[in-house]
Amino acid sequence: MKHITKVIIGLFFFASMQNVSAQVYSSTGQLLSPTPPMGWMSWNFFGDNINEKDLMEMADALVSSGMKDAGYEYIFIDDGWQGGRDKKNNMIADPVKFPSGIKALAGYVHSKGLKLGIYSDAAQLTCAGYTASLGFEEQDAKTFAQWDVDYLKYDYCNAPSDAITAQVRYKAMADALRKSGREILFGVCEWGGRQPWRWASQIGGQLWRTTDDVRDKWEKKPTEKWGVGVMDILDVNAELNNYAGPGHWNDPDMLITGLYGKKGPSGDGGGVGCNDIEYQSQFSLWAMMNAPLYATNDLRNMNNATKNILLNKDMIAINQDALGKQAERKIKTASWNIFTKPLANGDVAVAILNRGNTDAAYVLNLSAIGLTGKYEWYDVWEHKTISKSNKWNGMVKCHETKVFRLKLLK
Ligand code: GAL
Repeated sequence: MKHITKVIIGLFFFASMQNVSAQVYSSTGQLLSPTPPMGWMSWNFFGDNINEKDLMEMADALVSSGMKDAGYEYIFIDDGWQGGRDKKNNMIADPVKFPSGIKALAGYVHSKGLKLGIYSDAAQLTCAGYTASLGFEEQDAKTFAQWDVDYLKYDYCNAPSDAITAQVRYKAMADALRKSGREILFGVCEWGGRQPWRWASQIGGQLWRTTDDVRDKWEKKPTEKWGVGVMDILDVNAELNNYAGPGHWNDPDMLITGLYGKKGPSGDGGGVGCNDIEYQSQFSLWAMMNAPLYATNDLRNMNNATKNILLNKDMIAINQDALGKQAERKIKTASWNIFTKPLANGDVAVAILNRGNTDAAYVLNLSAIGLTGKYEWYDVWEHKTISKSNKWNGMVKCHETKVFRLKLLK
């Protein structure tokens, strides 16, 4: 009988969460995360092999590279920082990796005008086997607030697979963060299995992962058992455009730009690396889809191609546009995907992706994607106006994404 009551309550809870989006506002009435968050995350490059010195150097590099000025704001400590709990059950950082502690690191990051993100998990142990927050939500949220943390990525390893438990556990931490006395962004990371786009915003999340972890590759080969790449993730995330908006974003995982298959977990699962055209495509598509833009490469050693991608302010402006509309995939064939994203000033961003395995010519008539009239075409990667027309034709390299900002001519 007890079990039946629990199931019925659970079903009501689950039903009440479907397709609802509720935004979270700060104490001053501002929407938390009105545009997708931007920053740098430690996981893809370092895995759990992190320490305060490397993270401080990444904060320095975020500033000196010009990325902070371009909008990148967060330094994220992913899994591997934890050193267990003290006698009062307060979470502590690994004293060898973080001898000065997280509060000191937050102070350093804040002194640079940046913010700090941290990681935990809705179970007893995280994905990499470290101490996690189940049963300690309020205590851990208070600890994070006391350390001056600005963002929590909350993972779901070692937790039961059903959606109701996930909603209950995520809500417990979201509530705890709200009570912590500090504004802390909440990123839900259960990889899309329980359709978080239907409930994560309602329980207090500002964004939710939609897929498995991105590996440093273009797409999963049929012979590979696991490891998703840019195209596999695109095909999931592109279909979820109606769920995203200011304060509630689909998160198709981190950028792999500039990793070149060199290091860290992004190299697992067939992550042999991409070429710069493919990295530029991921950046373009992620920006069009209002994804959070988290670089993950070694910011201390970036080549010009990587800087050129991560610092493209025209592309970032499309991602950070105030209207917050995720691009819609208007055309989808085996070789070509065409996306449109309406912008706050009335412009429209258009992306043309060549998924085929050769360079190819393409003709885009704007009428085919529902746009009437004549437009001025601004090439977002060439940084110049290229034509006034109701169509575009040209070559698109293998795996390239062309992006244009279109202004309607009166
Ligand atoms: C995964 C998560 C990754 C990373 C990793 C840490 O579940 O999707 O982004 O955080 O755990 O162990």
